[in-house]
Amino acid sequence: MKIISVLAMLASLTFVTAKSTFTPVKPPSQPLAVRSPYLSTWQSVGSSGGNGGYLAGQWPSFWNGRTLGWQVIQTSYEYTATQSIYTQTVGDKVKLTITFLSPITPDDWKRQSLVFSYLNVSVESIDGKLHDVQIYVDISAEWVSGDSSQYAQWDYNTTDNNVAYHQIFRQNQEAWSEISDQTEFGNWHWATSTTNGYTYRSGEDTPVWGQFVNHGALVNTKDANYRPINSQWPVFAHSHDVGSVGTTPVSRLFSISLCHDNPIQYTTSSGVVEQTAYYRNFFDSQIDAVSFFHNDFPTAYEMSTTLDAKLQDDSVNANGENYAVLTTLGLRQAFGGLQWTGTEDEPLVWIKEISSDGNMNTVDIPYPAHPAFIYTNATILKLLMEPLFQNQEAGLYPNTYAMHDIGSHYPNATGYRKGNNEAMPVEESGNMIIMALMYYALVSDSLIPANQASTDDFEGPLANQTNLEVQGIVGIQAMSIIANVTGNTADVSNYSDIASGYVTQWVELANDTTAELPHTTLDYENSSTWSLLYNAYADKTLNLGIIPQSIYDRQSEFYPSVLETFGIPVDTRHKWSKTDWQIWAAATAGNSTRQDMIDAVATWVAATSEWLPFGDLYETQSGEYVYQFANRPVQGGMLAVLVANMGLTM
Ligand SMILES: *[C@@H]1O[C@H](CO)[C@@H](O)[C@H](O)[C@H]1NC(C)=O
Ligand SMILES: *[C@@H]1O[C@H](CO)[C@@H](O)[C@H](O)[C@H]1NC(C)=O
Ligand SMILES: *[C@@H]1O[C@H](CO)[C@@H](O)[C@H](O)[C@H]1NC(C)=O
Ligand SMILES: *[C@@H]1O[C@H](CO)[C@@H](O)[C@H](O)[C@H]1NC(C)=O
Ligand SMILES: *[C@@H]1O[C@H](CO)[C@@H](O)[C@H](O)[C@H]1NC(C)=O
Ligand SMILES: *[C@@H]1O[C@H](CO)[C@@H](O)[C@H](O)[C@H]1NC(C)=O
Ligand SMILES: *[C@@H]1O[C@H](CO)[C@@H](O)[C@H](O)[C@H]1NC(C)=O
Ligand SMILES: *[C@@H]1O[C@H](CO)[C@@H](O)[C@H](O)[C@H]1NC(C)=O
Ligand SMILES: *[C@@H]1O[C@H](CO)[C@@H](O)[C@H](O)[C@H]1NC(C)=O
Ligand SMILES: *[C@@H]1O[C@H](CO)[C@@H](O)[C@H](O)[C@H]1NC(C)=O
Repeated sequence: MKIISVLAMLASLTFVTAKSTFTPVKPPSQPLAVRSPYLSTWQSVGSSGGNGGYLAGQWPSFWNGRTLGWQVIQTSYEYTATQSIYTQTVGDKVKLTITFLSPITPDDWKRQSLVFSYLNVSVESIDGKLHDVQIYVDISAEWVSGDSSQYAQWDYNTTDNNVAYHQIFRQNQEAWSEISDQTEFGNWHWATSTTNGYTYRSGEDTPVWGQFVNHGALVNTKDANYRPINSQWPVFAHSHDVGSVGTTPVSRLFSISLCHDNPIQYTTSSGVVEQTAYYRNFFDSQIDAVSFFHNDFPTAYEMSTTLDAKLQDDSVNANGENYAVLTTLGLRQAFGGLQWTGTEDEPLVWIKEISSDGNMNTVDIPYPAHPAFIYTNATILKLLMEPLFQNQEAGLYPNTYAMHDIGSHYPNATGYRKGNNEAMPVEESGNMIIMALMYYALVSDSLIPANQASTDDFEGPLANQTNLEVQGIVGIQAMSIIANVTGNTADVSNYSDIASGYVTQWVELANDTTAELPHTTLDYENSSTWSLLYNAYADKTLNLGIIPQSIYDRQSEFYPSVLETFGIPVDTRHKWSKTDWQIWAAATAGNSTRQDMIDAVATWVAATSEWLPFGDLYETQSGEYVYQFANRPVQGGMLAVLVANMGLTM
């Protein structure tokens, strides 16, 4: 897929190839514009599908890998939580710095709700001489549909505060529909500033680009022949002649935005309602938002770099540079899965189960991701759970356990009046209670659960799962605390007595009585097995004290003995593992084991040949993805150690 091409035209200079450096590492794919399930543009790296991490010679792609090309020479790549920064030198004469900024502003929901991203291109002379430089950037119509045979339509205009934009959209809008995960409705805006030397053009790719190559400028015309995306590939170009450039950097700013007025459908007791995009509380029109965002770069940049620096420092202080490799990518993906709607007083946040089945607000997505929200702004977690509570409290869900998700496919939060969603009773109920410390009892379903799936449903269902039982027990203890908080004093000791009783039995049933290094088993009384005891994370992090410290000590001693090249498998059934559960389990371990576990996952990120964005399910010996779980928000779980270090207590 041809998404953006950035080219700097430099009179009579030849491009030379240089060895690139990557900071902190080469991830499987580099985030370019990543702000929502639908604005999710990446540059593939891994050798099995990418070109090693260069902008040159390869098009960026939507997160699922639909790709096309790009051309510049590059000497370095660096990423932070919010930015991807590429640097290249041209003929040892000019340095080009291309910064992709997808802001994360957890405390500023007006800005956070904009599904918009920046591209800043900066040039400077590095040989002390002056050089004439022109910059050309275009996007194709492929952004507007996952089916390139669809008709696109477009427009060009300027605002009265000097923002020029191409507006591009699918001609037959298909509300709330997707093709290959891309959105089939809404408007895309591709904007820049109308400074001196600015020209534009829309039209077939080769002639438009050819005109720039031959003349260093475009002719300010709009192609009015609306046609299919793949018919004489229309592109939407901006060009800047920035003139003679010396050692003082000269830059031009571009922004890409996706505007929906009503991005979500939601079933409430009054029927299906269209959810208004949250940013519309602050802007009269989509163009007002586009123009605000374009001119807001200094503020958005400042807020983002402040967050980047805090996350980097906290991560390095906790467990070194390797830990920052994980948290910076993880925060991007957690926030890149969100969509905001509602009024200023009653906002709602939606999340897509990216890469697996597209379910909406699946409880076991915000659950592994929740450290990202606790660390940045805990209220966002509440807003993610809110639709699930609203739906169930309105009596729109018949089952006695928590619902798995709010709709079988994003962006339709249409619920399950018949209760016919994927059943994960202990998993999702425990998740909800632990996340909120405020949901309903699951006592009857807890200690000896029937044969049922846990969130690791890719492993298949299994009875008596040790780790799932911990989820139930911690959930019951959480209910005791909730009872205390809500003044239901009779329930306080009831729940905590039940939880302690269960723990006593659990310790016996889950004990491997034959192993050299004692540890908990995968399922009860099955000595040949083990699993990552990641569900102890909530007990450890909230200092609930329900799981005995001796269990933590034993697990911490045991984990290094089952560490493979790229991490510890989830359990003995396969060599597969999950990034999120490993970092959760690492957060419950002593620091030395914790460091080993973090190092293994970070080593994998840098070494895997995979090319789709940071996956969470992979094989710990080959490093290959299992089921292509790419770009999932669950990577917010990378921040689990930071949250464990916060010293929370109930
Ligand atoms: C989160 O952001 C909202 C909106 O700015 C703010 O009211 C709240 O105090 C922030 N922090 C937390 C912990 O919720
Ligand atoms: C773009 O980045 C350069 C540094 O690379 C910076 O000096 C400039 O201010 C940025 N552009 C804008 C519009 O802020
Ligand atoms: C351009 O936008 C202005 C409002 O800023 C509007 O009045 C005008 O009709 C638009 N022009 C075109 C060609 O769409
Ligand atoms: C959402 O529901 C609408 C009908 O209201 C349907 O046309 C659309 O295809 C659905 N979207 C998805 C992704 O299933
Ligand atoms: C679960 O464990 C209990 C206690 O060991 C045992 O009685 C029961 O048979 C087990 N259930 C299954 C399905 O294995
Ligand atoms: C209940 O909450 C109060 C006030 O926070 C606290 O002092 C008390 O220890 C709690 N009781 C139990 C049993 O947790
Ligand atoms: C304790 O909780 C259980 C499960 O909700 C309930 O069945 C039982 O009646 C409660 N006991 C008391 C004494 O409240
Ligand atoms: C677990 O089994 C080991 C033998 O491997 C034994 O030493 C230990 O006491 C047992 N622990 C519990 C809590 O049953
Ligand atoms: C113990 O676990 C292994 C591996 O998961 C399984 O094949 C076996 O059936 C289990 N044994 C019992 C008694 O459940
Ligand atoms: C954990 O270990 C790493 C080195 O392995 C060290 O840098 C870090 O300070 C330690 N953290 C704590 C909390 O002890």
